[in-house]
Amino acid sequence: MNAMTSSFSPRLSQQVQRLRPSSTIAVTSRALEMQRAGLDVLSMAAGEPDFDTPAHVVAAAKAAIDAGKTRYTQVQGIPELREAIAAKLQRENGLTYTADQVTVGNGGKQSLFNAFFALLDPGDEVLIPSPYWVSYPEMVRFAGGVPVAVPTRPEDGYRLDPEALREAITPKTKMIVLNSPGNPTGAVFPEETLRAVAELAQEHGLIILTDEMYEHIIYDRQHVSIARFAPEHTLTVNGASKAYAMTGWRIGYAAGPVPVIRAMNAIQGQSTSNASSVSQWAAATAIANSREFIEMARSKFQERRDRIVAGLNAIGLPTPTPDGAFYVLADTTCIHADELEATRIILDEAKVAVVPGTDFLAPGRVRLSYATSLETIERVLERLKGL
Ligand SMILES: Cc1ncc(COP(=O)(O)O)c(C=O)c1O
Repeated sequence: MNAMTSSFSPRLSQQVQRLRPSSTIAVTSRALEMQRAGLDVLSMAAGEPDFDTPAHVVAAAKAAIDAGKTRYTQVQGIPELREAIAAKLQRENGLTYTADQVTVGNGGKQSLFNAFFALLDPGDEVLIPSPYWVSYPEMVRFAGGVPVAVPTRPEDGYRLDPEALREAITPKTKMIVLNSPGNPTGAVFPEETLRAVAELAQEHGLIILTDEMYEHIIYDRQHVSIARFAPEHTLTVNGASKAYAMTGWRIGYAAGPVPVIRAMNAIQGQSTSNASSVSQWAAATAIANSREFIEMARSKFQERRDRIVAGLNAIGLPTPTPDGAFYVLADTTCIHADELEATRIILDEAKVAVVPGTDFLAPGRVRLSYATSLETIERVLERLKGL
């Protein structure tokens, strides 16, 4: 039979059928279509810094290529990078890890994925403060676990109430996911909250997976790593994407108890093997020495945050001031009660692409990323004012 006329349809795995279609895809593809049709659409949807990778990092990558660092590496990453990560965790986070307690993945995403697969059995529950980054529940489900949202409120600046977390614990709870500063809320959990969560984990024998991807994008506050309070219970995930403007290089990492790290290495060894060798050499330089870049990025993001929060509130879209990351969640119920509909109106009428809060569990809100120039922010505010 001719392949073109075959009626055979491969049966997809139940596993993949559990993945939920993303409500942001419809918006993103519509925005792209409009752009292709020549319309001037301003995108506030990006999840990445708008800066170029710092020149000294690019130079390190070029030097690695010239030196022939172009082969497979150890699955868990080159020792030079893992040592740079261990030194960084000591210097910046007050955490003591050896290079053996560190594993490098293809982006923080792979490290998170490996972690859930290394730790979850079918039916294990994972507590995730919401609004949350959409990949956590999807990854948990994919690994056979059950995501359990623990809601936080805009009026509390989306800070987590440890008592709400305690109430959500059941005999099936295995893990707690923390993301501070958080995507999409920008919330930074205070030290006393982290101490309380660490105590809960110790009391109930839980594992804390802390995603500290945005640790350097934080305003007038000091980032605190929860691993300081319960190191045996904590797996810290971080990466090069957001801190050093290296989203395309795909370097993430995790540090934690040796058995978990070994299990993650075993999973990665049978899937992607090592992260790109050239990217690993570049990341080793970035992680060891990027103070100036981090400061530059932080001060630019802060200026933009101040402008967008003031601007959105002034035009009647209530928006709490986030303490970190580069996102705001604006209340768009005055445009339309349903955030998907509000997103469509904002795109069609103001030609601004935003992300509906639906998948983040932020009803009535949309996410705007301010990883874009001040000039673009001004134009966006001007357009939203006209709605
Ligand atoms: C909270 C959070 N964690 C992890 C990631 C993944 O980053 P990467 O895979 O680029 O390291 C992102 C990216 O958007 C994120 O927002």
